[in-house]
Amino acid sequence: MNILVTGGAGYIGSHVVKELLETDHQVVVYDNLQKGHKEAVLGGVFVEGDLADRELLDRTFSKYDIEAVIHLAADSLVGESMENPAKYYRNNLVNGLNLLDAMVKHNVKKIVFSSTAAVYGDVEEVPITEDLPKDPTSVYGKSKLFFEEIMKDYDQAYGLKFVSLRYFNASGADESGKIGEDHNPESHLIPIVLQKALGLRDKLAIFGTDYPTRDGSCVRDYIHVTDLAQAHILGIEALEAGKESEIYNLGNGDGYSVKEVINVASEVVGKEIEAVEGDRRAGDPATLIASSDRIREDLAWNPQYGDLKTIIETAWKWHMNHPAGFKK
Ligand code: UFG
Repeated sequence: MNILVTGGAGYIGSHVVKELLETDHQVVVYDNLQKGHKEAVLGGVFVEGDLADRELLDRTFSKYDIEAVIHLAADSLVGESMENPAKYYRNNLVNGLNLLDAMVKHNVKKIVFSSTAAVYGDVEEVPITEDLPKDPTSVYGKSKLFFEEIMKDYDQAYGLKFVSLRYFNASGADESGKIGEDHNPESHLIPIVLQKALGLRDKLAIFGTDYPTRDGSCVRDYIHVTDLAQAHILGIEALEAGKESEIYNLGNGDGYSVKEVINVASEVVGKEIEAVEGDRRAGDPATLIASSDRIREDLAWNPQYGDLKTIIETAWKWHMNHPAGFKK
């Protein structure tokens, strides 16, 4: 199939593209490069464009005879979404609608969508299954949940079939060490810990040590970005085979605390990584662990990099080779 990957130059998108390049599908990346890096796109056709540009979208669908879409382009910072909801609703919803409308116009009926664990909000349940109540605590989480609802309506009215993937904590890097996480500013735990180990940061703070968890720091379900990428391919191929729309969690089902992540990272880098105990970060739930039974059963998804040490080793390879990200 000719597959359009929006946000294909981003952290997760570039890993999806790399895995797609190893299949028989043709890849067209559509990215405005606001957050993404052209160097992260290891092949396929590249179109520099914004989802706000309906004409360019239209031309891209025609020119490359697009047959399916993997949609990752979005703003994704929880804190920023609370300060600037307009930006999030405009980009993640209004611009996303441009994409859906281009799909309907060009009779493209298959989409894999990048969703998030943030749709659940504060849940006490462990592990989290897809059918639990959704009560997002951020505008970012709401924008993703609303888009899932819109896709349901487009399915009902226009026959658009979707697979929505709710990522838990995407982490790690491609085994080759050629692509990896390069955000500016960086807010995610593992890259921050490794930047501290490389001496690129003065301070590493543990955000909160009084949570109701085994050591007081927050527990998360870290999932390797290549395992995430594989799930997109399974999703798009299931849709090609006629699958009905579905929503899946993507995590390993294991939780690690912030302190445990720092300890495993110290082991990987071979020296102690110093951290200070800091205040809670607003909006962080204590524990988020996924049940991914549904995608394992339906699509035979089988993560290869489940172990946290392996995840951090792959991230470390990327950070050591590219301390300044894609700039070097
Ligand atoms: N943390 C620290 N110190 C840091 C950075 C993070 O202690 O310097 C902690 C956070 O408080 C959190 C954990 O490390 O407890 C993981 O934080 P990340 O920022 O790496 O990831 P989040 O769990 O906050 O966010 C992820 C995704 C979001 C998504 C969210 C769903 O990155 O896109 O899960 O809740 F919205």
